[in-house]
Amino acid sequence: MTTKEYAGLQSVIWAGDKLDLLDQRLLPEEIVYLPLTTAEEVWEAIRHLKVRGAPAIGIAAAYGVVLGSRQVQEGTNGWLAEVRKQAEYLATSRPTAVNLFWALDRMKAKAAAIVEAGLSLEEAKQALLDEAVTIQSEDEETNRQIGEHALSLFEDGMGVLTHCNAGGLATAKYGTALAPFYLAQERGITLKVFADETRPVLQGARLTAFELHQAGVDVTLICDNMAGMVMSKGWVNAVIVGTDRVAANGDVANKIGTYSVAVLAKAHGIPFYVACPLSTIDLNTPTGAEIPIEERNPEEVTEGFGKRTAPQGVKVYNPAFDITPAEYVTAIITEKGIVKAPFNINLKKLFEEQ
Ligand code: MRU
Repeated sequence: MTTKEYAGLQSVIWAGDKLDLLDQRLLPEEIVYLPLTTAEEVWEAIRHLKVRGAPAIGIAAAYGVVLGSRQVQEGTNGWLAEVRKQAEYLATSRPTAVNLFWALDRMKAKAAAIVEAGLSLEEAKQALLDEAVTIQSEDEETNRQIGEHALSLFEDGMGVLTHCNAGGLATAKYGTALAPFYLAQERGITLKVFADETRPVLQGARLTAFELHQAGVDVTLICDNMAGMVMSKGWVNAVIVGTDRVAANGDVANKIGTYSVAVLAKAHGIPFYVACPLSTIDLNTPTGAEIPIEERNPEEVTEGFGKRTAPQGVKVYNPAFDITPAEYVTAIITEKGIVKAPFNINLKKLFEEQ
């Protein structure tokens, strides 16, 4: 057994009195940590993709609540009101990833319980910070478990295609969809990864190819429009992606282009797996049609990375995510196990078992 332990970059680091955030917009060329001290800076970092990926957004927002409420000097009731206000504010940063709202709800509930317990203001602030730290450390453990379950579906030598970045950079550690690749690496199992570059913001090229290559995982970068070709050649035995939100019926919201990959996978008889923590499954959203889809600036399409590639004034449609209907999903891989259709029943069961 080889022991090549995961040593990827950490995207969110609590540094005593500030949040050090890896600016993912600058990767892979520059590794820069931004020192954030206010909720406004965290909001801006989430909105502008300095931190991105559903779990990492939730973790950053949890620390954002801590930063935004720490100025309160008197009275835990006033502090609780400020926690709630900051959480509502941070919730407006991006609409699709449910982990953001999940983490903020958890922070609000914790703050209410702290006040209920009668802690002093200083103790309350520390306890809320502890909750953010817990959200982050739980995510690491969760992802390892997701990785174990996902790896049980793969065999040595398989080709696996992924879209966007659901790796260590998008989470506390390991990632969701990329976790099995790191566990395989630790165990001397070879998986050949195809990473879609993921237009228009290139999370696949800039982040997935970067972190897998840095870890020594066998990764081949392809343009999004090459996925069908590599599948037709028989090089892809499975697809695995992350997600920003799974609806109660198993419809999956993920980075734009995921739906096309799922359709291609089905056409080639290739299993299509979705890896995510329970915190990404939203039983309150019945189907994918109710998941809010973020639309981003047209400039991401017309002049991404500073080079104009489309005529001035042309109409642009730039949704950041799409919905893959449940019928294309072979299985959803969570920390509690692998869920198959019928998703409306089996996802509910998963939560009832908790
Ligand atoms: O716009 P992004 O980069 O935040 O989109 C990220 C994705 O679509 C990921 O696949 C998803 O958040 C899962 S991350 C474990």
